Amino acid sequence: MDLSQNSCGMGMRPREAGMDGAPSPASPAGLSAYVVVSQLLGLTLLVTTGAWLGRYRGGVAWHSPLQFNVHPLCMVLGMVFLQGDALLVYRVFRHEAKRSTKVLHALLHGLALLIALVGIVAVFEFHQSKGIPDMYSLHSWCGMAAFVLYLLQWLLGCGFFLLPGASFSLRGRYKPQHVFFGLALFALSIAVCLLGITEMLLFNIRDSYSHFVSEGVLANTLGVLLVAFGLVVGYVLTRDDWKRPPLAEELALSMDFKTLTEGESPGGGSQ
Ligand code: HEM
Ligand code: HEM
Repeated sequence: MDLSQNSCGMGMRPREAGMDGAPSPASPAGLSAYVVVSQLLGLTLLVTTGAWLGRYRGGVAWHSPLQFNVHPLCMVLGMVFLQGDALLVYRVFRHEAKRSTKVLHALLHGLALLIALVGIVAVFEFHQSKGIPDMYSLHSWCGMAAFVLYLLQWLLGCGFFLLPGASFSLRGRYKPQHVFFGLALFALSIAVCLLGITEMLLFNIRDSYSHFVSEGVLANTLGVLLVAFGLVVGYVLTRDDWKRPPLAEELALSMDFKTLTEGESPGGGSQ
């Protein structure tokens, strides 16, 4: 990855240089700046979550009254920060081989899923130990939907793009759905976190929230940071001229496929 050089990075431009000692290919300068900002925002939102839970909510521990706090920490880390970074890999590692980028994308989503699972188990166990009913709130309904659909998206992603069974054209037909629902799930995850933050503030500081107490301001700031992270990642992913240019060998493969099938190509190089 090269985040320092300037180039236009437009359209179907094949890779300019290999990894064999030749100068590394350039990334568009604007892309590099946006990626850096996204990572700064991501780290700030993790620190803000830690500061909120550590300073105002007593910290984090399993099998204790603090077990609930594992939930927001894991959900912000998994469903937002790691999910966001998994989405960015096709832009950041834009000149690496497609297969390695795909594996990294799948691994980061897998790690995000595992961490989110720990967060979900934490809140269910906590509710059970306190005798609190499950799944009564809008946050829990949308949260459960986001988690289950995220798991489904991951399984479908592995099935279509990683395992050898799916044909080239089947992958091409599934890809737009994968991209749309992936972006939608990322947006839903952030919305679910906002609902969770509001709910937690109303449980804990209902009487003082309207007096701008510092806990309320800090948690609201976390919400704004989550929105900002989502907007920056969303912008990077939807800029057409920042899309990953297919490598020369992927273009050749795509042309062979086009010739073989008389016109039907999934586009964007190998899937
Ligand atoms: C995408 C991220 C998130 C998902 C998928 C999610 C999912 C869930 C689910 C399924 C429950 C229901 C547990 C049960 O009924 O036993 C729940 C509860 C809860 N969550 Fe989250 N959550 C997320 C993020 C957050 C965040 C960031 C916070 C707070 C900062 C939060 C605060 C709460 C609270 C206070 C509850 C207990 C009340 C309730 O059941 O609504 N959640 N969450
Ligand atoms: C829950 C998990 C997943 C989510 C939310 C997700 C989401 C996304 C999104 C939003 C994109 C578009 C990114 C871009 O425009 O650069 C994308 C692309 C892609 N994803 Fe996933 N994905 C998930 C899991 C997987 C898995 C497990 C694989 C298996 C390898 C996979 C393979 C791909 C491929 C091949 C692309 C197309 C890249 C391209 O040609 O531009 N995804 N994914």
